[in-house]
Amino acid sequence: MHRRGFLAAGLATVLSGSRALAQMKMDGMSDMDSMSDMGGHAGHDMGAMALDAAVPEGAALRELPTLASEAGRPGLFKAKLTAAPATARFAADRDTPILAYNGTSPGPLIEAYEGDRVEITFANRIEGEQSTIHWHGMPVPADQDGNPMDPVAAGADRVYGFELPEGSAGSYWYHPHPHGRTAEQVYRGLAGAFVVKAKADPVPAAYGDTVLMFTDLRLAADGSMPDNTMNDLMNGRVGDHVLVNGQKNPRLTVAMGAKRRLRLYNATNARFLRLAFEGAAMTIIGTDGGLLGKPVAANEIMLSPAERIELVVAFDRAGTATLTTLDYDRGWMGPGRPADAGLTLLTVDVSKTPGEAMPPLPERLRPIAPLGQPAVSRRLVFTETMAMNATGMEMGFLINGKAFDMERVDIVARAGETELWEIVNQADMDHPFHLHGTQFQVVERERDGKVAKPPYLAWKDTVNVARSETVRLLLRQERPGQRMYHCHILEHEQLGMMGILDVEA
Ligand code: C2O
Ligand code: CU
Ligand code: CU
Repeated sequence: MHRRGFLAAGLATVLSGSRALAQMKMDGMSDMDSMSDMGGHAGHDMGAMALDAAVPEGAALRELPTLASEAGRPGLFKAKLTAAPATARFAADRDTPILAYNGTSPGPLIEAYEGDRVEITFANRIEGEQSTIHWHGMPVPADQDGNPMDPVAAGADRVYGFELPEGSAGSYWYHPHPHGRTAEQVYRGLAGAFVVKAKADPVPAAYGDTVLMFTDLRLAADGSMPDNTMNDLMNGRVGDHVLVNGQKNPRLTVAMGAKRRLRLYNATNARFLRLAFEGAAMTIIGTDGGLLGKPVAANEIMLSPAERIELVVAFDRAGTATLTTLDYDRGWMGPGRPADAGLTLLTVDVSKTPGEAMPPLPERLRPIAPLGQPAVSRRLVFTETMAMNATGMEMGFLINGKAFDMERVDIVARAGETELWEIVNQADMDHPFHLHGTQFQVVERERDGKVAKPPYLAWKDTVNVARSETVRLLLRQERPGQRMYHCHILEHEQLGMMGILDVEA
């Protein structure tokens, strides 16, 4: 049997076996409130559609609130982030219980400069759950990176402290990473942007600098967020409303001729965003780890879960420009594949009166040196399995045949040594690969025997590995300690598609 059919059949077995449900509960992954919700999206889509009209669209785009530094001097960024239950108004007439950093979701935007020291006190006020703050993509010491091995207990505080090295300017983010609870804490609202700014930024300040953080909301008719279903565990949780900075299809007003610098973040658990700007021209200027060598014009962009991209968008035509989604087949398992295409994420009103003339974007942004010849090569093979055990059917999302084990080191590497990693996706779904602690360079992709070089050299910490595809990348870890690598569909990470890299000094 083809593996997809096998998995779908396996899912049906899980759905009919109450022991398997008990197993899922024991694993702490989900509470199954409603069996009828598990066959696919169909069940809850009806409810969501009834509620759709009640999720208001078209409000003015909210810029993310920034986290103020309490240090009172340049060079040090000092603040507190408290994770706690809160409520949000997504539907017009009812509150939604969420988890929030400092009461807001997405969390407050952190802006600091290259060369700064950062000291953030994390207060975990999530009842009965441990948590951590992971600094996604940032070059922080391993013991400050919020690994699942370093949990912060419910009610406890801890300080994360690190330096932002020169050259580290980029579009990073922060989110929880506790063992077994990451997916849920993130979809309930815990994620925020962390922008490291360059002291000398080649992008004109007149373009502004706006973070657009995409999250994915599913609302039940009573305004609550339903728990993950079996379908969510398999495909990753996809919601019904893609939000930008917590709003559905907000509006932005610009003058004709304006150029805007936009940092797009895919902070969804599992939604693949293939995007186009209708009525405006996009230029890619940066990726996860900061600026490219030079700008690259683009008709469309692809952001898999956890990826970021920095754009300059030119609004040269009066009228309406919209950021919309295009179709992308990432290998959906079972029924209920959500509609990917035709969602309007952001509407921009471009005025008839031209604004001030904008300075041009420089032709060169910053040098990116290739990482060079690797001293070591490694191969990581991603697979999906269904297996019988004593308690029932179990889904597995594996790397080199193994599920994550917090007590096991999977790879030992040396600090400062360049490595070639070959990520081989032998599964039926795309899996966005992410590595902690450093930025890497994608050197080639291979599919059906065809090898393709990426269109530009870039610093990345997350890269989509499409089904049946192999992605080769170069990386170098500069700091010792344990680093996670995993699929950033957070439900897959939680079901085992993660490993530990131990970097020796
Ligand atoms: Cu954004 Cu290990 O994660
Ligand atoms: Cu990370
Ligand atoms: Cu995955």
